[in-house]
Amino acid sequence: MRVFLPAIAAVAALFSLNQAVAQDTALLARGRHLVEVTGACGNCHTPMGPQGPVAGKALAGGTVFDEPPFRAVAPNITPDPETGIGRWTDAQLARAIREGIRPDGSLIGPPMPMTLYRGLSDQDVAAMIAYLRTVPPVANAVERSVYRIQLPPAYGPPVASVPPPADTPVARGEYLANAVAHCMECHTPMLPAGQNDRTRLGAGGMEFRGPWGVSVARNLTPHANGLGGWTDAQIIRAVTQGISSTDRPLAPPMAFWAYRNMTPQELGDLIAYLRSLPPQP
Ligand code: HEC
Ligand code: HEC
Repeated sequence: MRVFLPAIAAVAALFSLNQAVAQDTALLARGRHLVEVTGACGNCHTPMGPQGPVAGKALAGGTVFDEPPFRAVAPNITPDPETGIGRWTDAQLARAIREGIRPDGSLIGPPMPMTLYRGLSDQDVAAMIAYLRTVPPVANAVERSVYRIQLPPAYGPPVASVPPPADTPVARGEYLANAVAHCMECHTPMLPAGQNDRTRLGAGGMEFRGPWGVSVARNLTPHANGLGGWTDAQIIRAVTQGISSTDRPLAPPMAFWAYRNMTPQELGDLIAYLRSLPPQP
């Protein structure tokens, strides 16, 4: 029997190696989907030209958000060691994404949606970080943001551990529309202090200015002023193609170009969640 032991050990080692590789592949695929599709980090972190994301600059930063309270510049989140996040540890990246705190202790400001990213599950944040490490590093130094408002001391207590959502369409849709895709950040009115008015969740009204003029985030609740009269197919077309129920092309900044690769299950979950919201006039 003895002679077979090394062979068995070798087979066992190979088996666990294959398992580890399969796990890595699944983690990276999940991370890619979160960063490139549902989370659409590139909607802010990739410079946009007239044709959408600029080629060769994926996640390299530089987009300027010029608003009365701030002039924010999206940083480079590629693994470039000098100008990106190449030297950050996984824990530092997780803290930046979920808590809005950089390795040097400074606070990250809006419009980075940290208050919603606090709800990202441990698994999903790990997947995002694993994927970010694999994107091509781009050397691109960007200016610092300037905030004319007082940033809070922190966005909340340290995030210890976040479990995945319950496995029901509404719970998965809620997680997707809040923690991951931050639909609800754009589609919920802002209070003067700068946070969403969660008593009017999904009621719309926020204005976005840009080269397209002014776009107003719509009411996504089941009220007649919102998606009450919309079919599922119309909602899916709006989210994945940027076309309203009246056939009008929607203006930016919603990330249709990324959402078009959402899975049918994700779209179904989103609809289940939106239809479960209290109707808002
Ligand atoms: C709505 C726009 C927006 C979205 C969406 C967004 N970010 Fe950001 N992010 C920003 C801005 C702007 C900053 C810098 C704010 C500042 O200068 O304080 C930032 C900062 C960061 C930082 C800190 C980097 C540094 O060098 O300071 C990381 C890491 C980061 N974002 C990762 C992500 C990831 C991962 C996603 C997608 C899950 C994402 N962001 C989605 C706008 C956005
Ligand atoms: C960065 C801000 C932003 C994010 C994030 C965002 N949206 Fe939007 N959305 C808008 C704006 C602005 C409009 C209106 C554009 C227009 O009228 O031309 C819009 C329009 C829509 C419409 C069409 C409604 C109508 O009456 O025409 C639907 C449906 C929609 N969004 C759903 C979603 C969902 C679901 C998500 C998340 C997966 C999401 N949005 C994420 C800003 C955003």
